[in-house]
Amino acid sequence: MNIVVCVSGGGTNLQAIIDAIGNGTITNTEIVGVISNNINAYALKRAEDAGIKAICVSPADYPDREAFNDGLLEAVKDMNPDLVVLAGFLVKIPPQMVAEYRDRIINIHPSLIPSFCGVGYYGLKVHEAALERGVKVTGATVHYVDEGTDTGKIIMQKAVYIEPTDTAETLQKRVMEQAEWIILPQAINMIANKGKV
Ligand code: GRF
Repeated sequence: MNIVVCVSGGGTNLQAIIDAIGNGTITNTEIVGVISNNINAYALKRAEDAGIKAICVSPADYPDREAFNDGLLEAVKDMNPDLVVLAGFLVKIPPQMVAEYRDRIINIHPSLIPSFCGVGYYGLKVHEAALERGVKVTGATVHYVDEGTDTGKIIMQKAVYIEPTDTAETLQKRVMEQAEWIILPQAINMIANKGKV
């Protein structure tokens, strides 16, 4: 199964996928390309260091959002993936791309959907909201991407306990280590080896 991974930031989830392919946790899978909307994303360096084709498709290079959306879809299609993995990708997937890759785009979200998700819930903001609400358990979710924001069919989730001393930063780190970096590779491996979940 050929996958394209879309990233925007540090790329720790991308690294987890690279490592899982390397150690056999993920089988029958090749990362055929990494696409970022952010030229400064460290994730692009992680891809290059792993010998993976890495490109930037930046909104700054297009006259408007519509043109960017078309450029993003073309860049993905050029890599001809079986599955598109959004790993910390902070771009709303355009409807035409959702349609083109119906049930073949997955996303990792750092909460137990339907909590703390939707427009405006990304990165540290998710963990700040969980701490603000006072929940005792949070976690991460892998889901299919549809036309909404964090609304597609849930594939896998993993819970993480919140500690009384947690800050948004310590919680984000633990959710990544104990949940995201585990269930995203597991979900990819499941899809690669058993077809659509
Ligand atoms: C993190 O907040 C993660 O929870 C979410 O995207 C952000 C960046 O992750 N999925 P990464 O280190 O770029 O994979």
